[in-house]
Amino acid sequence: MVELLPSILSADFARLGEDVQAAERGGGTVIHVDVMDGHFVPNLSLGIPVVKSLRKVTHLPLDCHMMVTNPDEFVPAFAEAGINWMSVHYEACPHLHRSLQLIEQHGMKPGVVINPATPVELLIPILGMVHHVLVMSVNPGFGGQNFIPYSLNKIRQLKELRQELGLSYRIEVDGGVAHDTIAMVVEAGAELLVAGSAVFNGGRAEQNARELLEMAKQ
Ligand code: DX5
Ligand code: ZN
Repeated sequence: MVELLPSILSADFARLGEDVQAAERGGGTVIHVDVMDGHFVPNLSLGIPVVKSLRKVTHLPLDCHMMVTNPDEFVPAFAEAGINWMSVHYEACPHLHRSLQLIEQHGMKPGVVINPATPVELLIPILGMVHHVLVMSVNPGFGGQNFIPYSLNKIRQLKELRQELGLSYRIEVDGGVAHDTIAMVVEAGAELLVAGSAVFNGGRAEQNARELLEMAKQ
C-alpha cells in the first residue's frame, strides 16, 4: 500500500501544528521528521523539543530521519519524546547492526537510509533487521532539490531483493518526490513516499497532499 509521508522540513515552523494537521487531512499517514546536526549534512533542522510539541498535535506515527554523525546517542531521548520509526544512515553508523538493535530495544521501528552514492548491496547483511529501507533520491540536507533518476534503479533492486530473500521491509523514498516524479517512484516499487516542498510550499498542504496521493495511485 502506498502512503504519503509529509516532511515537516518545508512546513512553516511558526504554525507547525496547523500545517501538520492540514497535511493529515489531505491524506498524509506518517509524519517525516528530519533531524540534522550540521556535521553529517551541511544544515541544521530541529531536535527533541520540536518532536515533543509535534507529538501533542498528531496521533500519526512520527518517522525520524537521523542525519547526524552519532545517532546512537539520541535514541533514548527521541523514543521518549514520541518518535515511532527511526532511520539511521549507513554512512553514519560504523556499527550499524548495533544501532538498529538499539532503536528496536527502545520500542521504535528501525530503518536504514542510503545516500545516492551508496550501493544497495551493502545493506544485504542487515535487511532482515529493518522495518523500512529509505532510499535518498537527493543528497540529504535540504528540501526542494531535484530528484536523482538513478534512485529508481535502487528502488527496483530493493524490491527484487525483498522477494529473493523472503523479507518484508517497506521501501521508502525521500527527496524530489513531487507531482512530476511520484508516479515513477511508485512504479519502481516505493511504498512510503516522503514529500516536503511538494506538500508544504504555497501554504496549501491539504490540497497538495491530496493531489500527490491521487497521482501516486493512478
Ligand atoms: C532532505 C530531507 C527530506 C526533505 C525532502 O535531506 O531528508 O526529507 O524534506 O524535501 P523535498 O521533498 O522538498 O525534496
Ligand atoms: Zn528526510
